[in-house]
Amino acid sequence: MAKPRVFVSRRLPEVALERISRECDMDLWPGELPPPRDALLEHVRGCEGILCLLTDRIDAEVMDASECLRVISNYAVGYDNIDLAAADERRIQVGNTPGVLTETTADLAFALLLAAARRIVEADRYTRSGEWRTWGPTLLLGQDVHHAALGLVGFGRIGREMAKRARGFDMSVQYFDAVRNEDAESELGARFVDLDTLLATSDFVSIHVPLTDATRHMIGERELDLMKPTAILVNTSRGPVVDRRALYAALRDRRIAAAGLDVFEQEPISKDDPLLGLDNVVVTPHIGSASVAARTKMALMAAENLIEGVNCRPIPYKVNPEIDSDFRCCGLDCDQAT
Ligand code: GLV
Ligand code: GLV
Repeated sequence: MAKPRVFVSRRLPEVALERISRECDMDLWPGELPPPRDALLEHVRGCEGILCLLTDRIDAEVMDASECLRVISNYAVGYDNIDLAAADERRIQVGNTPGVLTETTADLAFALLLAAARRIVEADRYTRSGEWRTWGPTLLLGQDVHHAALGLVGFGRIGREMAKRARGFDMSVQYFDAVRNEDAESELGARFVDLDTLLATSDFVSIHVPLTDATRHMIGERELDLMKPTAILVNTSRGPVVDRRALYAALRDRRIAAAGLDVFEQEPISKDDPLLGLDNVVVTPHIGSASVAARTKMALMAAENLIEGVNCRPIPYKVNPEIDSDFRCCGLDCDQAT
């Protein structure tokens, strides 16, 4: 029997590519940049599975480029790049890579929190610049992290890992989430509050929600104005959760003290973006999950989702469980058809 055809939209860690190419007829996009739209449509044609990145917009048109498409495996935990309703309608299984990047992403969020609080990047630039003349009583003063109040917007896996890290710094932790989790509250010593209270009373606000219609621009001018002028915002989730114009104005006018940002409304952010002209912003290029170990595990999970899906089996890490046993299959001699 011919191997199932799959499109893989970027070079992944080699172990995963080897596994995929053993089981599938793999078309691997060779570029360092995402496939342009017309190339994506063309490469998906005739494929039974696609392994894509968060930079690939997978909508109904892409899905309809191949009549036999039966799995979309996203190399990420977030899947706002995929039109899930369109996948459901076509009974296509959609997979992601939860769990394996949780702690890695929380580590980066905490690194940004510390860097913004203690002005590490500014201090690094200053030290290198030759401006450093003597020990200074008021040189580069920042905010204390220990014993400060951490507010977590979103208390899923990554948010809860932040709460764990915060305990080591004797921080008090409060959170807001659409779903209250009382077990985790008592386990992690976190307090549930409404969003406005969280914003008004936290020294650090760290965002850990997925991007959905409900969370887009959840943090705008009104919300930023509620924050303390000494507060620091950290975002490692998705850029569009924060209104970038409102954020820029709040940081420029020092209505909040600083921000640590790994994600942006436009990625990549333009080097001319005024946000990058501000000293009180620490930025990284969407690298929350970028450790060797996490990226390898993510690649293997994404490969497994892909391989199970093209073989008409339920995929292990599915984000549309409503597509239960009635997922689209090859209709021939597969596990589901028999
Ligand atoms: C990265 O942003 C991811 O969602 O995995
Ligand atoms: C994703 O949001 C996670 O918590 O792993």
